Amino acid sequence: MPYLHVNTLATCISLLQLLQPTTATKDDLYHVDPLIGSTNGGNVFAGASLPYGLAKPVADVDGQNTGGFSTDGSNVTGFSHMHDSGTGGNPSMGQFPLFPQYCTDNVVDNCKFTKTARAIHYVNDSVTARPGYFALELVDGIKAEMTAARRTALYRFTFPENKTQNGSMSDPLIGLDLTDSWDSRQNASISVDSDSGRIKGNGTFLPSFGAGSYQAYFCADFAGAKIRDSGIWVNDRAGSEPKELFVTRGFNNFYLQAGGFVIFERPDDGVVTARVGVSFISTDQACSNAEMEVPEPLGDFGGLQSTAEDAWKEKLSPIKVIPGGVSDDMLSAFWSGIYRTMLSPQDMTGENPLWDSGEPYFDSFYCLWDAFRAQHPFLTILDPKAQSRMVRSLLDTFKHEGWLPDCRMSLCKGWTQGGSNADVVIADAYVKNLTGIDWELAYKAMVNDAENEPLEWSYEGRGGLQSWKRLDYIPYLDFDYLGFGTNSRSISRTVEYAYNDHSISVVGKGLGKADYTTYVSRSNNWKNIFKDDQTSLLENGTDTGFVGFFQPKYLNGTWGFQDPIACSALASWCSLTSNPSETFESSIWEYQFYVPHDMATLIKLLGGPDAFVSRLDYFHESGLADISNEPVFLTVYEYHYAGRPALSAKRAHSYIPRTFNASENGLPGNDDSGAMGSFLAWSMMGLFPNPGQNVYLITPPFFEAVEITNPETNQTATIRNINFDPTYRNIYIQSATLNGKPYSKNWIGHDFFTQGLTLELTLGEHESEWGTSKEELPPSQSDSFVHDEVHRA
Ligand SMILES: *[C@@H]1O[C@H](CO)[C@@H](O)[C@H](O)[C@H]1NC(C)=O
Ligand SMILES: *[C@@H]1O[C@H](CO)[C@@H](O)[C@H](O)[C@H]1NC(C)=O
Ligand SMILES: *[C@@H]1O[C@H](CO)[C@@H](O)[C@H](O)[C@H]1NC(C)=O
Ligand SMILES: *[C@@H]1O[C@H](CO)[C@@H](O)[C@H](O)[C@H]1NC(C)=O
Ligand SMILES: *[C@@H]1O[C@H](CO)[C@@H](O)[C@H](O)[C@H]1NC(C)=O
Ligand SMILES: *[C@@H]1O[C@H](CO)[C@@H](O)[C@H](O)[C@H]1NC(C)=O
Ligand SMILES: *[C@@H]1O[C@H](CO)[C@@H](O)[C@H](O)[C@H]1NC(C)=O
Ligand SMILES: *[C@@H]1O[C@H](CO)[C@@H](O)[C@H](O)[C@H]1NC(C)=O
Ligand SMILES: *[C@@H]1O[C@H](CO)[C@@H](O)[C@H](O)[C@H]1NC(C)=O
Ligand SMILES: *[C@@H]1O[C@H](CO)[C@@H](O)[C@H](O)[C@H]1NC(C)=O
Ligand SMILES: *[C@@H]1O[C@H](CO)[C@@H](O)[C@H](O)[C@H]1NC(C)=O
Repeated sequence: MPYLHVNTLATCISLLQLLQPTTATKDDLYHVDPLIGSTNGGNVFAGASLPYGLAKPVADVDGQNTGGFSTDGSNVTGFSHMHDSGTGGNPSMGQFPLFPQYCTDNVVDNCKFTKTARAIHYVNDSVTARPGYFALELVDGIKAEMTAARRTALYRFTFPENKTQNGSMSDPLIGLDLTDSWDSRQNASISVDSDSGRIKGNGTFLPSFGAGSYQAYFCADFAGAKIRDSGIWVNDRAGSEPKELFVTRGFNNFYLQAGGFVIFERPDDGVVTARVGVSFISTDQACSNAEMEVPEPLGDFGGLQSTAEDAWKEKLSPIKVIPGGVSDDMLSAFWSGIYRTMLSPQDMTGENPLWDSGEPYFDSFYCLWDAFRAQHPFLTILDPKAQSRMVRSLLDTFKHEGWLPDCRMSLCKGWTQGGSNADVVIADAYVKNLTGIDWELAYKAMVNDAENEPLEWSYEGRGGLQSWKRLDYIPYLDFDYLGFGTNSRSISRTVEYAYNDHSISVVGKGLGKADYTTYVSRSNNWKNIFKDDQTSLLENGTDTGFVGFFQPKYLNGTWGFQDPIACSALASWCSLTSNPSETFESSIWEYQFYVPHDMATLIKLLGGPDAFVSRLDYFHESGLADISNEPVFLTVYEYHYAGRPALSAKRAHSYIPRTFNASENGLPGNDDSGAMGSFLAWSMMGLFPNPGQNVYLITPPFFEAVEITNPETNQTATIRNINFDPTYRNIYIQSATLNGKPYSKNWIGHDFFTQGLTLELTLGEHESEWGTSKEELPPSQSDSFVHDEVHRA
């Protein structure tokens, strides 16, 4: 072992650490601000949750409510118990919201039951959001606080004293609505127990970006106040009898608003506690989840909150930062980004009604298209056990539903955006040696994506596989009678399928599968849609001066045409249903850079390193780059492949903190389950993964130093800047050492984390020669061919 001397120095190092101003673990949590990204389309979940928790209570608003709450100035409509974070599409979940209020003159029909009637603003500056805790005060003076166990939300509503017109005391009411955030409910049932006040029920809902429907169950109990009355409400009328109700969609799918309520005698302290257990199995399980997780609703609030805080502290503990004088806002953006990578996917083990296998079950892979690039690689270093369980869940889903998920939420199949990117997640886990995964099963699942076309490839597998195998590209207006999906995105699907096939070849080769060469060969298919004389004009007719772009190609081999700037921020938005095009949610300009496995060949094709660098600069500086969406991530760092790692650092600083920062609007786009958070975290740590490969691209951290302890080996990796300057004038690496020895490659492998190596980067104000020569560049598939051939010779 070449690095043993590190251990012999252990005592000195810990002494040194004592002397250095490291942030204590307590401070890491202090820096987390769940409100970052709570407006301007970040769509983050700002409420209380355990890491990967299913229960996610927060205030729901009627504005940007995709993640429940937003600081967009809109009104609160209730407090619900399950959410997703950062997603686009329709608002996700948000079932069975509670809403506390007083009814004028204590007349129940005077209460405001429907969503629009009860909407009410909160006291500005009353919002408190911390890991495991969320609170605000409504403008009527009622205060709501909430915390969470894994499948149980716990609320504390404080009712101010309130008198009716004739001076008698008003009685607090808590209503429950049989709805979700986008009123997707199909039918639902509720029952209210008049003695205990327990409200139970279920409902059928639609997934927010997927096919089919799902059932959700709840069990609500109240504590701390005597029950005066209870019943059900329908539209704006309520009654104490009956105590049960079934609602469905009526004529023309008419949506009926309905639910239950309980009226209390106001206790002296005004506090009424509500405990809501949730489940996807049954109402009984929702009740037993709540009883088990929160046995004493009245006494448990503080304990639950500190349990949640401890869980978050433990999850964040592998990372330590030595700030070196950077602002609290930079620390806050960093730690909050990391925090958000662990809100979803959600651990729903034990809550899967579809099959029961004893394997972990995770949900809210929303979507892998977003998360494979940075989030899953991030979990691999921060929480490899959880990442391994997530991969097992993907494989178990393949086993029981026939396909690896690409996007999955609320037990349903979500819409596929590009390729079958679970293949990349699996290859990433493979090259980083995650343990506990059945690799034979994994390979079978990946090959299934590549070989078998499903009838419905809008939510699983890939489309156009006949053409893919026969013509070696996805044709424009393909003739595909085997399966059905949105027949668009021929360019972005071609480049994604090519990279997916590369991922299969990596695992296949590692497992000794003879057919891996098929996938090596298909991973070159992206070359077949490159039109070497294609030019690109701006909207005003100015020639960008760059020649050679991907273009759509018909079945017969004739080129079609899509303007290379179409679907960029300079032109129009293209998605699955809005303006479907040959590229998905991004332009040909952006997808032109998506050849993660063979950057060397791409650079050659685009005219060599200098031409490539000017094209990448133009892309980032002209407004063509869309920093608000995931396909842009790798392009920030691709200068490394052209031997200009300094320009990657410069580019990262051009976006951070300008477009990623600690403000409530501090995300440029949807966080997408923490995809944006992980982009920020990697960037500030000074390493960026090329997902599916054993490669991290090196740039200087935004702090003096960052330490990452591998939770499996307990080894601590350190990346430290020498000459660190918190105003970021010195952002260029002049030289580097790895465990004290000169290190000139501009990338490093995963051993850095598992073996706990120390990378020291000496910084300066100008670009240097470091990491610029051919031998110092990250690997490309085309150079590994050369190696293979040399090896065989
Ligand atoms: C509270 O904030 C909202 C939204 O920002 C604003 O419209 C409203 O005027 C503010 N209210 C007060 C009392 O400042
Ligand atoms: C919020 O609700 C109040 C009534 O409670 C209403 O006057 C106001 O316009 C609403 N605000 C928004 C942004 O809908
Ligand atoms: C009492 O409750 C009613 C109904 O919510 C509200 O309009 C009124 O402002 C409240 N009064 C006080 C003093 O809180
Ligand atoms: C006050 O009004 C409530 C209902 O609004 C009624 O139940 C109560 O009897 C009244 N009390 C008096 C003293 O009039
Ligand atoms: C509820 O709605 C779902 C979906 O529309 C339907 O499949 C189910 O049969 C309904 N259940 C009842 C009891 O009506
Ligand atoms: C929902 O609850 C009702 C009433 O208890 C019950 O009849 C119905 O079967 C339940 N639906 C599901 C899908 O469990
Ligand atoms: C993975 O494990 C193999 C075999 O133990 C080892 O050779 C390789 O270096 C490891 N790779 C990483 C990235 O740790
Ligand atoms: C065309 O647009 C580009 C980018 O906005 C601008 O730099 C250029 O000056 C414009 N050219 C003309 C002729 O208007
Ligand atoms: C190929 O197909 C396209 C689309 O149908 C058509 O426009 C084009 O003329 C064809 N090219 C040849 C050479 O037949
Ligand atoms: C923070 O980021 C947002 C979103 O990208 C941006 O609109 C805003 O200008 C940034 N704020 C600062 C102070 O840089
Ligand atoms: C890592 O440390 C933990 C806690 O100190 C210990 O339980 C575990 O056995 C250690 N693992 C290894 C591989 O040393």
